[in-house]
Amino acid sequence: MTQGENNERQVGGPSATPVRLGVLGCASIAWRRTLPAAVAEPLLWVVAVASRDPDKAGRFARHFGCEAVRGYEELLGRDDVDAVYIPLPVALHARWIEAALRAGKHVLAEKPLAEDAATADRLVSLARSRGLLLAENYMFTYHTQHEAVRRLVAGGAIGELRAFFAAFTIPRLPPDDIRNQRQLGGGALLDVAGYPIRAAELFLGDGLEVTGAVLRYDPVTKVDTGGAALLRTPSGVTAQITFGIENAYRSSYELWGSTGRIGVDRAFTPPPDHRPVVRVETQDGTEESVLDADDQFARVVRAFARGVLDGTGDLPAGSGHGTDAIVPHARLVDTVRRLGG
Ligand SMILES: NC(=O)c1ccc[n+]([C@@H]2O[C@H](COP(=O)([O-])OP(=O)(O)OC[C@H]3O[C@@H](n4cnc5c(N)ncnc54)[C@H](OP(=O)(O)O)[C@@H]3O)[C@@H](O)[C@H]2O)c1
Repeated sequence: MTQGENNERQVGGPSATPVRLGVLGCASIAWRRTLPAAVAEPLLWVVAVASRDPDKAGRFARHFGCEAVRGYEELLGRDDVDAVYIPLPVALHARWIEAALRAGKHVLAEKPLAEDAATADRLVSLARSRGLLLAENYMFTYHTQHEAVRRLVAGGAIGELRAFFAAFTIPRLPPDDIRNQRQLGGGALLDVAGYPIRAAELFLGDGLEVTGAVLRYDPVTKVDTGGAALLRTPSGVTAQITFGIENAYRSSYELWGSTGRIGVDRAFTPPPDHRPVVRVETQDGTEESVLDADDQFARVVRAFARGVLDGTGDLPAGSGHGTDAIVPHARLVDTVRRLGG
C-alpha cells in the first residue's frame, strides 16, 4: 500500500491525527521493511524522505507516495514533520539524532542508537529535557514469539532457568557495505551483537554484567568481524552470545532450565509471513508449537506513533524496548568492546 492509499483510508476514519514522519537517508532497511510498514500504519503519515542523492530520494518518494528532499538539514527544517526515522550508518546516528531533537522532532533511530553508552546517555537526556520521544529500533523485541517463550518459562515448562544461549551471525557483505567501513561505525559488535545481548536482557532482566568477551578483527578493514561474550545475572544465570558478519547465517536462541530447554530459530529477523516454531525439550520428549505469524516492523512503527501521540516521551508500556533500556544496553556493548580486546 502506498502512503496515498493509506491517507485515503484515513479520511473520515476514527483514527487520531497521524504523526507526520520524515526519513533521513534512503537506506536498504527503510526500503525493505520500515517504510512499507510505516505507510501501511494509519497512525503515521510518511511526508518526505531526504537523501544526499536527489535521484535516490525521487525513487523512494515515488514508491512510497511522499515528497523527495535533498539533504537531511532541509528535512529537519520542515514544519510539516513531527518525527523522523534515522536509518543512517551508525557513526552518523549521534549527529543527526541530536540535530533532529534540537529541531523539535521525535526520533525513531536505527539500532544501535549510538556508538557508545556515554553518547546514548547524552542523547536520551537531551530527548527527555525536550519532552521528545527517542526510540531505538531493536524491532525483534516486539515480535509476539518472545512473549510466548516468556510465558512458557514463567509457567515452569523448563523448570528453573539456568542459562541462555543466543547467536546472530550473517555472511560476509561486499567491501563497500557500511558494516565493513570503520569510519562509519562498522563491525559485528555494533551491527549484530546487540540482538543477542538485547535478547539476554529481555529474558534475564536487569543487572546483567559482562564477565568475558572475545572480538576478532579484519586485518585490512580493521573492523571487528565477530566474537562472543559471557554475561551473568546477579544470581548466576549465564548468557553466552555469539555474533559475526563473516559467518554462516544463524539467528536463534535457547533457554536452558533445570528440567528442559526452549529453542527458537529465526529469532531476530523473521519475515512477516513466518510462522514461528517454539521447541520445548524435556526428558518426556520434544514438543513444537507453531505460532501465528507476526510483523515486528508493523509493531515498531505503531508503538512509535502511539508513543508520540501519547505525549509521554516514551514508548507505550509493554512495547519491549522503552527509552530506559537504551543506556544499560549500550553499557553492556561498551563492556564487550573493552573486554574483547
Ligand atoms: N532494525 C533492523 O532490522 C535493521 C536491519 C538492517 C540495518 N539496520 C540499521 O539501519 C541502519 C542502516 O543500515 P542499512 O543496511 O539499511 O544501510 P544502507 O542501505 O547502507 O543505508 C544507509 C544510508 O545512509 C545514508 N548515508 C549517509 N551518509 C552515508 C555514507 N557516508 N555512507 C553510506 N551511506 C550514507 C545513505 O542514504 P542517502 O544516500 O540516501 O543519503 C544510505 O542509503 C544501520 O544503523 C543498521 O544498523 C537495522
